[in-house]
Amino acid sequence: MNLTPEQTAFRKTIRDFVLKELEPVASEIEQRGEFPHDIIRKLGNMGIMGVNYPREYGGLGLDTVCYAIAVEEISRACGSTGITVAAHNSLAIAPIYLFGTEEQKRRYVPPLARGEKMGAFGLTEPEAGSDAGATKTTALRDGDHWVINGSKCFITNASVAETYVITARSGDAPGTHGISSFILEKGMKGLKVGKKENKMGLRGSDTAELYFEDLRIPADNLLGKEGEGFKEFMITLDGGRISIGSMALGIAQGALDKALERSKERVQFGRPIKDFQAIQWKLADMAVEVEASRQLVYQAARLKDAGQRYTKESAMAKLYASEAASFVTHQAMQIWGGRGYMEDQPLERYYRDTRLCEIGEGTSEIQRLVIARQLLR
Ligand code: CAA
Repeated sequence: MNLTPEQTAFRKTIRDFVLKELEPVASEIEQRGEFPHDIIRKLGNMGIMGVNYPREYGGLGLDTVCYAIAVEEISRACGSTGITVAAHNSLAIAPIYLFGTEEQKRRYVPPLARGEKMGAFGLTEPEAGSDAGATKTTALRDGDHWVINGSKCFITNASVAETYVITARSGDAPGTHGISSFILEKGMKGLKVGKKENKMGLRGSDTAELYFEDLRIPADNLLGKEGEGFKEFMITLDGGRISIGSMALGIAQGALDKALERSKERVQFGRPIKDFQAIQWKLADMAVEVEASRQLVYQAARLKDAGQRYTKESAMAKLYASEAASFVTHQAMQIWGGRGYMEDQPLERYYRDTRLCEIGEGTSEIQRLVIARQLLR
């Protein structure tokens, strides 16, 4: 892959950190189901919690390709840390950076980008998952305030965040047109974090419900234009899909690394199994899927950096990389055999973690819909 010297050097920096600090504790993070506070603090010190935001807003000032590389390399060792960084960067900071007033940007972005505070994005509701426009949470204007009532579910970083971007129906306009975004802060009266979810995988990441009970916020906490929230979070999700594509790519690369190692060590019929063509073909197919995913993910990132529309390309990258990761982790487990199915080895974690990539930030079915609509425009 053609990377600039800066992107190549950045990959080395993040890879060195991951090998030294994250990989040794990744299985423990999963088994304990504990949020990786220590790792996130270290990533914050390195600037990874705000890779592609300008330095003047507390970020590293690098491009989206570097951001994709960061999520990829982190997820290559630990999907839980990967999704934590991804949701923080591309779902919580992005809408404030893209649609906030200068005052909102100066106030909220730097502490998030420096990793001093965590951010979360509250969009999904029980009946507004794939149908994101069906939001039932309401925001009623009352003088200089908005009063918010409702709830959100499956929110990444919900119980560790101090800054939230949430969506609510703020007017009578039907469907996707009456929705607005708002910035909330931890500690606001009426903002409650609900049940923490026990998930199939990514157990070190934080996923919980949010409740808003007569939550009164200043009118200034409206983010972007009133009634334009749907379009704003669709644009946010275009970027988020690069993140999930990068995460899937990282998990797939990690599973391929482990399959290659194991194929050299595992002896059957008197030979390392790498000598068998059946295994070589699997490894070749896996490597092709990983590389194709990488091309699509980086291409979407490059279009974003070039300021071009990338709705179709980010959906393609996310769709392809997440389905490829399911294939690659499946094949890797075949190569590992029984040992790969055991919890004391990392492979079953990769296998479980990857399922989220086909669901979160728009299912594979929704990505196909987004791509088809772009093709047929
Ligand atoms: N950029 C700009 N505008 C966009 C847009 C985009 N990418 N996508 C849609 N719009 C605009 C449309 O042009 C349209 O504008 P007009 O009304 O002015 O014509 C408006 O938004 C409505 O668009 P649609 O008619 O296409 O809306 P829809 O109701 O048919 O929904 C959808 C489209 C693609 C299905 C959308 O609901 C969707 O993406 N659903 C999936 C939601 C999702 O990804 N949720 C993930 C939650 S976050 C998460 O998972 C976090 C985690 O931590 C894992």
